[in-house]
Amino acid sequence: MTRSRELLNQMTIDEKVAQLLQLATLFYKGSSHKGQITGPMADMGINEEIVNNSGSVLGGAGAQEVMNIQKTYMENNRLGIPLLMMADIIHGFKTIFPVPLAIGSSWDMELAEKSAEIAAIEAAVSGVHVTFAPMVDLVRDPRWGRVMESTGEDPFLNSDFARAFVRGFQGNDLTNDTNRVAACVKHFAAYGAAEAGRDYNTVDMSERILRESYLPAYKAALDEGCEMVMTAFNTVDSIPASGNKKLMRDLLREEWGFDGVIISDWGAIKEIIAHGVAEDEREAAKKALEAGVDIEMMTPCYVHNLKELVEDGTISESLLDESVLRILQLKEKLGLFENPYRGANVELEEKLILSKEHRQVARELAAKSCVLMKNENVLPLQKEQKIALIGPFAHNGDILGPWSWQGSTEIAVKVDEGFKMKMDPANLFVAQGCDIETVTEQQLQEAVKAAEQAEVIVLALGEHSRMSGEAKCRADIRLPEVQLQLIAEIKKLGKPIAVVLFNGRPLDLHGVIDETDAVLEAWYPGTEGGAAIADLLFGDANPSGKITISFPYSVGQVPVYYNAFNTGRPKDEPVTEYVSKYLDIPNSPLLPFGFGLSYTSFAYGELTLSDDKLTDDTSISVSIDVTNTGDVAGDEIVQLYVRDVVGEVVRPLKELKSYERITLNPGETKTVTFTITEEMLRYHHADLQFASDAGKFIVFVGPNSVETKEKEFVLVK
Ligand code: BGC
Repeated sequence: MTRSRELLNQMTIDEKVAQLLQLATLFYKGSSHKGQITGPMADMGINEEIVNNSGSVLGGAGAQEVMNIQKTYMENNRLGIPLLMMADIIHGFKTIFPVPLAIGSSWDMELAEKSAEIAAIEAAVSGVHVTFAPMVDLVRDPRWGRVMESTGEDPFLNSDFARAFVRGFQGNDLTNDTNRVAACVKHFAAYGAAEAGRDYNTVDMSERILRESYLPAYKAALDEGCEMVMTAFNTVDSIPASGNKKLMRDLLREEWGFDGVIISDWGAIKEIIAHGVAEDEREAAKKALEAGVDIEMMTPCYVHNLKELVEDGTISESLLDESVLRILQLKEKLGLFENPYRGANVELEEKLILSKEHRQVARELAAKSCVLMKNENVLPLQKEQKIALIGPFAHNGDILGPWSWQGSTEIAVKVDEGFKMKMDPANLFVAQGCDIETVTEQQLQEAVKAAEQAEVIVLALGEHSRMSGEAKCRADIRLPEVQLQLIAEIKKLGKPIAVVLFNGRPLDLHGVIDETDAVLEAWYPGTEGGAAIADLLFGDANPSGKITISFPYSVGQVPVYYNAFNTGRPKDEPVTEYVSKYLDIPNSPLLPFGFGLSYTSFAYGELTLSDDKLTDDTSISVSIDVTNTGDVAGDEIVQLYVRDVVGEVVRPLKELKSYERITLNPGETKTVTFTITEEMLRYHHADLQFASDAGKFIVFVGPNSVETKEKEFVLVK
């Protein structure tokens, strides 16, 4: 990385400071916005000179556009240092895959990795160098609109996905493989734990829980070589994450040895003022740089203040240099000094984007991400049946999810289009029934008319994509009232009803699951959504997804998650008065972590352990026979959980430690064998030491976190 050092030595302090600034494309002359700095942009105090020296761009995509920006920029940049192009490529670029929470339900690391690889290929040929993904925030509160960006509530599974996504985005050789992009894990840290499920809200938790549950997935991404980290908007231990020295210098840099680039989230440095721990932009800049943030996204605290802070001796120039060097080194690693356009390629864009192969993977992953939640003799549908397809998602391209800015709702395969691939359109009766949140008398009448002509009714319901995502929190997590009314209305006909749900969060499914015969959770399934759903509904594919976030019985339970503590007064049977319970609802969620049905059934045999004693140097093999007892082939996700019965600190009732996705033909049995080692039993003690304790453990294996078989073993020290 000598080139980066040489450049650093030639840079003026103004150039160094500007290198730390990230601006949106519209500031740049080569962009389609022409870079005319007016209005709010001018109010930011950003002038042309600053733009000409800025280090990176937010949201640049499209080979021609990005090449234009880069070319014009480099002509005006004294040292010819290229820009880094960063963008949010979250679950696909133009070929949109299911939202991450849906991908979570697939428990399929290979496909998850493949989806990130395809996203990287499409983004890279469109000129993107860095993606702001994976988002690996652990989530327990479905009110939070961003749960759909996460893979769920489990630290172990989230870590596996974090690694898979990083591998997919980055590949093994970012310098030479210009078809990959650098990854940026976010939002550091614990953004998913916002109080009351309200975005940007306070996060407060013990350091042990932070380390035990929330940090592992970020660490996993970094262990896999993730190049960048993005800070979170929230506070952690009463200090904004974007000015939090303990999080960044002490933990990320010192303890974990991370030497890549840290970027603030959008405006998060300036927000340190609103949080109330900086008086002005100067103090916010000082705090953020000292805490370790290298790039400031979209606010000018650094660019207006760092020069003065260095010149008056408040911060040392070496601190500034460190950040500049890290950014230059990332540019060097990405090969930008040799080829500033990197993968951007107009012809390849044409050829690769939305290719048949990419769409095929999207279809497969969408099918594996859907979760069958109930099925009482309705599904699969018969291709000869007369079917009514009713609901606001019957013919609707809004199935890509909120993080799909390059995706096209036009070309997304809509549910009715999927149906028409499978059946005679003459037997299909489509009606909208209602809008997402409103209904007219005429819509209802049309729905009833369509339903009357059919033998079976499929209701395509859900939240529009603007009800999920950043700043899109909901306190009432039921389906909008009009859709519940539609169910009630259609139910009066007494015909079998299957519901397909499109949403970005666990919903309170009362009024849906209890009122209908089948429910398929499709989340936001992406570009191939309608095709994948039709594959499942008509039995050409068999549902296999299992939820990785609990579906609450009611919002009043939230947060409710499977790996909780027992309490001193657990609600055992028979229930007594002074125990941990609600008067009006159960303690358990409506649907537990790991739950999902299939068109076939699986029987679990006896659990056998190769030994009931484990030492630091031995392992135990845990085996179970799983048999497909139904009529069709299917995939089962076999899950292994462990409970540490007596810890030094309280341990969760169950913790996922392993899982395997198996395929079984009708009548076929497979023996699934897991290995337990001492390493898997370690946790953070009172003094935060990560170690295991001798004593009794319970191992559980089953199809979800509740219906498990169990055996005990002892760890001997
Ligand atoms: C979001 C980030 C995103 C960034 C850039 C922010 O508002 O919180 O997740 O990467 O914008 O678009």
